[in-house]
Amino acid sequence: MILPDGYSDVAAGKVASVVTCLEMRARPPRRAERPDPPFTLRRVPVPEAAWYRDLYARVGTEWLWFSRLRMPVAELEAVIRHPDVEVYALSAGGRDEGLLELDFRDPGECELAFFGLTTPLLGQGAGRLLMNRAIDAAWARPIRRLWVHTCTIDHPGALAFYRRSGFVPYARRIEIADDPRLTGLAPREAAPHVPIIEAGDP
Ligand SMILES: CC(C)(COP(=O)(O)OP(=O)(O)OC[C@H]1O[C@@H](n2cnc3c(N)ncnc32)[C@H](O)[C@@H]1OP(=O)(O)O)[C@@H](O)C(=O)NCCC(=O)NCCS
Repeated sequence: MILPDGYSDVAAGKVASVVTCLEMRARPPRRAERPDPPFTLRRVPVPEAAWYRDLYARVGTEWLWFSRLRMPVAELEAVIRHPDVEVYALSAGGRDEGLLELDFRDPGECELAFFGLTTPLLGQGAGRLLMNRAIDAAWARPIRRLWVHTCTIDHPGALAFYRRSGFVPYARRIEIADDPRLTGLAPREAAPHVPIIEAGDP
């Protein structure tokens, strides 16, 4: 559906974001990484739902990521253990602090499905390391296209970071969803950059 020009009302209790769709159709030139990274990356071949959800929530609660928190365990494990899905964890100080998920289930394509760091790790070079490994792993398979969506609720630097990484914007969408802070999937104090609007608010 194409929204008309002008304002469109969003119901109380919902969140709305502008989504930018980005893609790369060839492997980009490699960007430099910090030379002495105190981080390691490992593939997690058979992720446990509880481990995955803990990391997903520590990375994503601040940005209102919720889709994987409401999935039943069996459904979640069917995705993250699928042979065409690759899950990686970035560790710092002995703890998993970054999540990368690549989804190759559509032939010839790869979705950068989840990509992020916990807040204490931002701005230290871990994002560039994670992206370089993501690009290596994606283009190691016979794909024609690597794509990602980012939205205005995500970290404000994410879109520019993706563009510097070689992704090109090609579409824009509006996404509306129940506010996860009102459905119990996220704490009420999460994501203060996106105020909660409830029925009955002035
Ligand atoms: C998107 C995201 C991963 C970017 O991470 P980041 O912490 O800004 O990434 P970095 O610090 O690695 O990168 C920033 C730049 O600083 C550089 N840098 C940072 N610290 C450095 C250091 N100590 N030495 C050398 N270079 C360094 C990086 O190389 C990079 O340079 P470049 O982009 O010009 O190549 C991060 O914002 C994030 O996880 N956000 C939360 C989740 C999110 O919103 N994800 C996107 C949703 S789709």
